[in-house]
This record gives sequence, C-alpha cells and structure tokens, in this order.
Amino acid sequence: MNEEIVAQREYWNNEADAFSRIYSHRKSKLSNMLDSIFRKDMYDRYVFTIKHCEPIQDRTFLDVGCGNGLYSLELARKGAKKVVGIDIAEVMIGLCKDAAAKENLDDRCFFEQTDLLAYEGKSKFDVSFGIGLFDYISDPLPVLTKMRELSTDKAIMAFPRYWTWRAPVRKVRLNARGCDVYFYTKSRIKELMDQAGFKRHEVHRVGKLHCVIGYV
Ligand SMILES: C[S@@+](CC[C@H](N)C(=O)[O-])C[C@H]1O[C@@H](n2cnc3c(N)ncnc32)[C@H](O)[C@@H]1O
Repeated sequence: MNEEIVAQREYWNNEADAFSRIYSHRKSKLSNMLDSIFRKDMYDRYVFTIKHCEPIQDRTFLDVGCGNGLYSLELARKGAKKVVGIDIAEVMIGLCKDAAAKENLDDRCFFEQTDLLAYEGKSKFDVSFGIGLFDYISDPLPVLTKMRELSTDKAIMAFPRYWTWRAPVRKVRLNARGCDVYFYTKSRIKELMDQAGFKRHEVHRVGKLHCVIGYV
C-alpha cells in the first residue's frame, strides 16, 4: 500500500460515520440545510449516475470507492444481476456488508476492501463507476485505464471542477485534516480519457463537477 492509500484509508475510516450521515440526514436541521446547499452536487451526481447506469436489470456493476454503499445497494435493489463495491477503507466496507445483509441483498451485492489497482477480480462488468473518487487520487490515469479494461459497456466518473470558488476552500479544509484533494479542467479530462483508451466520452457539467461517461 503506498503512502497516499495509507493516508486516504485512515482519513475515510475516521470519516465513515460523518460521510454516511450526509446521505441519511442524521444531523441537525442546520447541518442538513447547509448540506442541501453546499453538498447539492453529491445528490445531483447520484441521480446522474443511477440514470446513466440504465438499463440496470440483469446487468453487472463495479462501484470503485463505494464508500458506505449507497450506489451499489440501490443498483442491487433495482434488479442488477451482480454489483461489486470496492473501497480501501475497511470501516466503509463494514457498513456496506451490514447494509447488504440487512436488506437481503448479499446474494448479488458483494464488497471487498481493496484499491482498484490491487483488485484481482477476473470478470468484467457492464458498467464501472467511480464517484467522489478522483478527488482523492493523484495519478488518475492507471485507475481510469483499469476501469476501462474491466468494463464492457461504459465507465462513469465524477471529477471536481478546477475553476470553482469551492475548490480552494475544500483544498485548504481537507489538506488541514491530512487529506489531499485534486481538481480537473475539461481539457485535462479529455486528455486522460483518450490516454486511458476510451473509444469516446461525454463530459456533462453537474454543478461544481464534471460528470463523465467513457464508452468502451
Ligand atoms: C467521498 S467517498 C465517495 C463514496 C461513494 N462513491 C459515494 O459517492 O457515495 C470516497 C471513497 O473513496 C475511497 N477511496 C479513496 N481512494 C481510493 C482508492 N484509491 N481506491 C479505492 N477507494 C478509494 C474512500 O475510502 C472513500 O470511501
């Protein structure tokens, strides 16, 4: 495990509960109101991704950096044949496994603690996606390339946009807590998607994010 993964793993193990509360709204009224303003992109990227995973029924999905499993579990509920969620943070993976077991989704929804580059699963997936992932990866090209290799239809990614007022604020706030964060211009994404070997790609602007679909 390289230094970056070790630092990210520690950060996300500590943040797992706070992160889950953004989605479950187990917060004060004020915090929920602030999230609905400042974290609107998190809800919008979810809607974008689930929509672009369609058709879901009987297809297979790889959720890279699955966090607490929100996306994986929803795809399983919607009839996916198989969903694999991977994440470097074991606390996140624990939350995912508990939730899958509680909803009886654990016959088609599987979770593994690993970094994508170390993931050894042999089967390919119809769709892979990495949401809220590239913010935390200093060298995205090998990750994008492996997502392309593991997908037969498409890969879906969200990249935080470079030129937003929130980028420097986030950078300072997260750096102070030991978490590096990275931002992307549209031209950098185009270059990365071409280098990763996608046949073609689309970049959609979603709030302060670039949501990208790479076709295999
Ligand atoms: C912001 S959360 C996003 C979780 C989920 N995708 C979502 O959008 O709800 C980022 C997750 O990426 C994971 N992560 C960070 N770097 C990773 C890497 N190199 N490989 C796999 N997971 C990683 C973290 O552990 C964390 O759980």
